[in-house]
Amino acid sequence: MFIDTHCHLSKEDYNDISQVILENREAGVSPIIISGCTKEDIIESLEYSMYYPDIFVTIGYHPSEVSKVSDLDLEKLEEQAKSDKVVGIGEIGLDYHYGKEDREEQIKLFEKQLALAQKLDLPVVIHSRDATLDTISSLKKYSVSGVIHCFSGSLEVAMEYIKMGFVLGIGGVITFKNSKLGEVVSRIPLEKIVLETDSPYLAPVPYRGEKNSSKYIPIIAEKISSCKGVSTYEVEQITTETAKFIFHLD
Ligand code: NI
Repeated sequence: MFIDTHCHLSKEDYNDISQVILENREAGVSPIIISGCTKEDIIESLEYSMYYPDIFVTIGYHPSEVSKVSDLDLEKLEEQAKSDKVVGIGEIGLDYHYGKEDREEQIKLFEKQLALAQKLDLPVVIHSRDATLDTISSLKKYSVSGVIHCFSGSLEVAMEYIKMGFVLGIGGVITFKNSKLGEVVSRIPLEKIVLETDSPYLAPVPYRGEKNSSKYIPIIAEKISSCKGVSTYEVEQITTETAKFIFHLD
């Protein structure tokens, strides 16, 4: 079985979750890990995880939520993170894509959540966009490891994260025509990769631009297998093993 280590399943985007889960299982994708990263999504994803045995969740405030999150919300997050189905903190991180005006606030929120992950001994799922240096410098202050979500950087940055104990989340971007990610992936150990869709975003080719789904995970695995010259079965086995290890599944 494949594991989708990162997706978003808001009711807004998917009105029939049972159907989604069924299609995933038919495609050989189970379990999936939902990333709840707004107040509403955290509550919703925790509910789903109670209902479906093959849904796990990571929870944590996305950098885009920075202006909406109080210390009280963070205390609540700590309580919510004690659920058995919570397997990590995230996605958390830094995003300077739309500007750096709130850089200080983003770093504060990020580091408070890194401290929480360290305290609860949970892995982290990192969102970093146009913010590699600050991300690395915050991560180095804490004893945490986990996944660099939607990794799309250079080989040099990949190796730096791997050296720090992280694995890379690889998704649909690797199938995009002008992506250089395949080249990077061909040169990093398969053991340092986990699969993810980031649904509903970033659907792989030939579904690019459409609503993404965990059932497309095998397409990503196939692309990785051709980049690395190994079988898709091997990609499945090894990435699943890594995901289970990182998130302490079963
Ligand atoms: Ni995401």
